Amino acid sequence: MSKITVVDHPLIQHKLTLLRDRETGSMEFRTLVGEIATLICYEATRDLPLEDVEIETPICRTTTKEIAGKKLAIVPILRAGMGMVDGVLALLPSVKVGHIGLYRDPKTLKPHEYYCKLPNDIDQRDVIVLDPMCATGGSAIDAITQIKLRSPKTIKFMCIIAAPEGLKALQEAHPDVDIFCASVDSHLNEHGYIVPGLGDAGDRIYGTK
Ligand code: PRP
Ligand code: URA
Repeated sequence: MSKITVVDHPLIQHKLTLLRDRETGSMEFRTLVGEIATLICYEATRDLPLEDVEIETPICRTTTKEIAGKKLAIVPILRAGMGMVDGVLALLPSVKVGHIGLYRDPKTLKPHEYYCKLPNDIDQRDVIVLDPMCATGGSAIDAITQIKLRSPKTIKFMCIIAAPEGLKALQEAHPDVDIFCASVDSHLNEHGYIVPGLGDAGDRIYGTK
């Protein structure tokens, strides 16, 4: 079964409080999503392999470490996943970026795909899928199913808030995909929204409500 890591660093918890607050406007909301994505990414990349490299400091020659040329790709789920991209690129500036467009039907809560563009060499890459919200888990499950058709080396899923229902469904559908989030909230309400959550992430990022 996949591993779930809740990255509950005090900085993340503080920023999450601001993010959840209904009074937080789009401009601050976007900044916070990016900052939290950077902080979660720090943990999600903890297992990157290192190799020895020889350099000269101003004092002497020494052997030290660098990341062992691992090829990564990130794939935000549109729209809201786009809000996490710059925050991840701040730590991983040379990754390739794919995109998957999904929207959740408000009645059935089922995801509908409208766009998919992935790096050509994704089969040689480790992929991190980005979406701030994992509610029923349907969008993450579908996005990962699409990406798996292109045989990436590994996949991780990074979100900000997850519901227990979504995590369970995602783990059952993709037991090989490790999950990183900032909070596991209480439950889903009758409209499929995470409680207490933060509302509709896409609408809050882009000011569409
Ligand atoms: C939101 C969110 C996830 C999805 C989560 O997107 O960003 O993609 O819902 O719900 P699920 O786990 O039940 O599938 P939405 O469908 O509202 O689209 P948007 O990002 O374009 O607003
Ligand atoms: N999508 C969101 O943006 N928020 C939720 O709470 C559930 C799905």
